[in-house]
Amino acid sequence: MTATIIDGKLAAKNLRAQLTESVAKLKADKGVVPGLAVVLVGEDPASKSYVTAKEKACAEIGIYSDDNRLPEDTSEEELIGLIHKLNQDSQIHGILVQLPLPRHIDENKVIMAIDPDKDVDGFHPVNVGRMNIGQPCFLPCTPHGIIHLLMINNIETKGKHAVVIGRSNIVGKPVAALLARKAEGGNATVTLCHTATKNLADFTRQADILVVASGRPNTVTADMVKPGAAVIDVGVNRVEDSSYEKGYRLVGDVDFEAVKDVAGWITPVPGGVGPMTITMLLYNTVQSATMKAQC
Ligand code: GUN
Repeated sequence: MTATIIDGKLAAKNLRAQLTESVAKLKADKGVVPGLAVVLVGEDPASKSYVTAKEKACAEIGIYSDDNRLPEDTSEEELIGLIHKLNQDSQIHGILVQLPLPRHIDENKVIMAIDPDKDVDGFHPVNVGRMNIGQPCFLPCTPHGIIHLLMINNIETKGKHAVVIGRSNIVGKPVAALLARKAEGGNATVTLCHTATKNLADFTRQADILVVASGRPNTVTADMVKPGAAVIDVGVNRVEDSSYEKGYRLVGDVDFEAVKDVAGWITPVPGGVGPMTITMLLYNTVQSATMKAQC
């Protein structure tokens, strides 16, 4: 069997076309331009390229983006001061602080400083709480993108066994919560595996849906996958490769070449989950501006 390759680029393109229309309508009807403040502290190359991609995507669909690049030695107080300013700025509907932050800054304090109504990442404890009890909120972008990909590919989740590898606050825990919730794209029986899980393959082989967010190449090999399963690879790992112009290539957490011959569906890296993450950030920003315009 060869898996259906889930095309995240196409899904993102389609959703971004809808969002472009929503942005134009918001401007025409309410005179509101959605605004996203992007905050990057330091010089991490991967973070820099994510932030650039996020700003480019905003420009493409008509969202105003406010670029805030701060030096590595920015203090926690300075960063929180900037966030307080952005919280008060009526042109800003979403605030994104790119993670990870330098070690001298407490990530939790920074996230807590963001107005929950501008927390388009869905990382503030208020939004995490709302999501977990089924109240309306900004859903975290990568988990939301994964659910969207499952839904548009008609991959049934209800009554299925979903296994998630990785317990990060950004992906593992929230995607497990979304898969379990009583809603479309949810209703799965969920197992959350992590670094202390013994005999990982015993769990992954039971998965109808396998979400891999371990941050380690080849975490999942072909012998660990149930034939016909949907395999969602969240990993983005740089592997040195001199045959590439940049000197590296991107691989996921799954052994794609071998697993595609066993799985029913699989997301590639790049071009799978990645484009959806940014699209859901745009979605949340437009949602935030729309809610504001209704007030
Ligand atoms: N770092 C890695 N992924 C993300 C994300 O989705 N949002 C933010 N703010 N930082 C990240």
